[in-house]
Amino acid sequence: MSADAALVDTGTETAGWVPLVELAEIERSAPIPVPVTALGSPWALVILDGEVRALYDVCPHRRVPLSAGKVAPGPDGAEVLECGYHGWSYGASGACARIPALGENVVPRGMGSVAVLTTAVADGVVWGTTDAAPGPLPDRTDRTEFPAQQLDDEER
Ligand code: FES
Repeated sequence: MSADAALVDTGTETAGWVPLVELAEIERSAPIPVPVTALGSPWALVILDGEVRALYDVCPHRRVPLSAGKVAPGPDGAEVLECGYHGWSYGASGACARIPALGENVVPRGMGSVAVLTTAVADGVVWGTTDAAPGPLPDRTDRTEFPAQQLDDEER
């Protein structure tokens, strides 16, 4: 577990699945992340190589929101979330994939990883959980409430 992963307050060990946002909102925003607050922490929601990802929304370099960055091609061809400040970039697992100041051919190992939520998409809704072994997604027919998004909107 990285230092940032240790900072993520999940509230409980088994928080379960929480609805984060409509998939369409992430698609509309791309390549810019959608910021949400859920499970006690901020997350930057993006699509990396066709999969929805939720990365802890704090860059380990200078503690600024990763949601101010954008999706970009990574050094190994896989898409990354690139910090908008100095370009540190994070892959789907949250591992740091690039630090521009180190040079293009240097892959950082064990530096600056960020936590990720496990995500799933069902019927156009993106769900997230910190559970190590999440159960099945809950049934949800009422999509009008996104606690994570509402909390984020109130903070703006
Ligand atoms: S603050 Fe993110 S790369 Fe410097």
